[in-house]
Amino acid sequence: MCGIIGLVSKREVSSTLLEGLKRLEYRGYDSSGIATINNKKIERVRSKGNLSFLEEKLANISLPGKIGIGHTRWATHGSPEEKNAHPHITNKVAVVHNGIIENNNQLRNQLIEAGVKFSSDTDTEVVCHIITSYINSGLNAYDSIRATMNDVKGSYAFGVLILNEPDKLFAVRGGSPLAIGSARNENFIGSDTYSLSAYSDNITYLKDGDVAVIENDSFRVFDYSNSSVKREKQSIIESVSLSEKGIFKHFMSKEIHEQPEVIAKSLSNYIDMDKGVLNIPSLPYDFSTITNVTLVACGSSYYAGLIARDWFEKFTNVKVDVEIASEFRYREPPMVSNGLTIFISQSGETADTLAALKHCKSRGQKTISIVNVGDSSMCRDSDASLKIYAGPEIGVASTKAFTCQLVVLACLAIKIGTSNGSLSKEQEKEYVKSLLSIPRLISNTLDKEDEIIDLAHDLSNITTTLYLGRGQMYPVAMEGALKLKEISYVHAEGYPAGEMKHGPIALLEKDLPIFMIAPSNSLYEKTVSNLYEVIARDASVILLTDNEGLHNIGLIKNKIKTFLVDETDIISAPFVYTLPNQLIAYHIALLKGTDVDQPRNLAKSVTVE
Ligand code: F6R
Repeated sequence: MCGIIGLVSKREVSSTLLEGLKRLEYRGYDSSGIATINNKKIERVRSKGNLSFLEEKLANISLPGKIGIGHTRWATHGSPEEKNAHPHITNKVAVVHNGIIENNNQLRNQLIEAGVKFSSDTDTEVVCHIITSYINSGLNAYDSIRATMNDVKGSYAFGVLILNEPDKLFAVRGGSPLAIGSARNENFIGSDTYSLSAYSDNITYLKDGDVAVIENDSFRVFDYSNSSVKREKQSIIESVSLSEKGIFKHFMSKEIHEQPEVIAKSLSNYIDMDKGVLNIPSLPYDFSTITNVTLVACGSSYYAGLIARDWFEKFTNVKVDVEIASEFRYREPPMVSNGLTIFISQSGETADTLAALKHCKSRGQKTISIVNVGDSSMCRDSDASLKIYAGPEIGVASTKAFTCQLVVLACLAIKIGTSNGSLSKEQEKEYVKSLLSIPRLISNTLDKEDEIIDLAHDLSNITTTLYLGRGQMYPVAMEGALKLKEISYVHAEGYPAGEMKHGPIALLEKDLPIFMIAPSNSLYEKTVSNLYEVIARDASVILLTDNEGLHNIGLIKNKIKTFLVDETDIISAPFVYTLPNQLIAYHIALLKGTDVDQPRNLAKSVTVE
């Protein structure tokens, strides 16, 4: 949540800061701003709305200065208005912030009592005033920042400018990610590698408690005890150049269509293609001794975990739990000594998942993260990390990252199953063969996008819907409903088809659209019974199934709409049935005219609790 960029250079910085913010917009886009120091003054331009509004302002207002900070915001304290946009400034200090100051109210009241006037509703402004008050009391810039860190509670990364140190950019990390990128005659700060990769080929991650003092030709880092420390400088190896939309209208559409390619890439990293067996990098565990697997994640990544539960249970014979990170981290579930905890996250920065990871490590669990962003905090904090190789996912609604997470989860489940003797070599080969068929199967579904477009036209005025499925199709249903909610703002719920009669059936009425997801597998007939219950109440069914499923549906064939996919099995079904749901959500959103890549109130990386 929220993106920070900063630059101290020998050249003008504002246009580069704006470019850097464009790379961070996925973290939040309700307002943005840039501040510089120029001519012994802090200058600032801010705007409500996404970056195009700031860009428009900067086309007309010049913002000179060779040092500056920028921010793109996802609102926590204070509504998305210009007055709450960062940077927050006083006459001596400018601050950009990612995170939450938990004792904001208490600090704000103290400051108000001391006569401070606030101009925003944000917790960040509190920080700005506290630093200013320490400067006014005679402390130097560094000590003022340190003293402020002692006053605030919560998670934060700050970029700070201080007027009486006009050549120094200060970077502070206390729970939220922040890194430094160096280039010739200039140094940057940024919330992630992606924002820095356009300017620097190396990156230095700050650790919690660090304050970095950065000039255009050098920087120093001090840890929580004020000792000067050397943090490892890493090269930015991966090409993370901003993906272009190409022929696609939105990143989401591009990312949906990329799935055959990125899934194939992900598979090639975990499968020996010649031998048709797994080829998982060696991990620091003896999988044959694992007694419990816990999958922890948020949002779509959590649904990927729920789908994978089936694979882990069937292939490994060990007990499997799937947990929502924000709930799990505050419970005190007993943890067994040989438990393996797997954290699933596209960004690798989701605050709740990260906190759950730290909690599990402190409880002696073996930890593996499954991430897309390879140098993310989760990747660094876990004992081992498996990348999903989806490539940069820019659309806020997760699509290709979700299916690539499934690839790695399936491979890991098969790996543990063969390691503990639950799966034979033949079974491994059979499942690997199925995995390798997925790019082709989902390409076949993508080829039928026109049918989905027609369906979307029929459904463009819906205000509510249910997605129903059994077994793995239940989390597939929840993921489908989440996609629709997120980008088209249509109310949708994913529900276990068999559970519908225990409550949601009361919602059924004439023509209410219901998505039924029913591959012809062992649960097909049960799901179809539920479909009959829906039809009996005059609701309107859209059935996602295969040829055999359609053939077996019987007399009601003409009363329902159908979308057919290829025949699937336990491995391929969740992938193949996810695709039509992504496309339906996308095309309904298109017809509704919503902002598909930047839906309201959301952010790509949720780094607050
Ligand atoms: C939904 C979506 C979110 C994320 C969730 C977790 O389309 O993208 O629900 O899945 O915020 O994010 P990560 O996977 O980065 O931990």
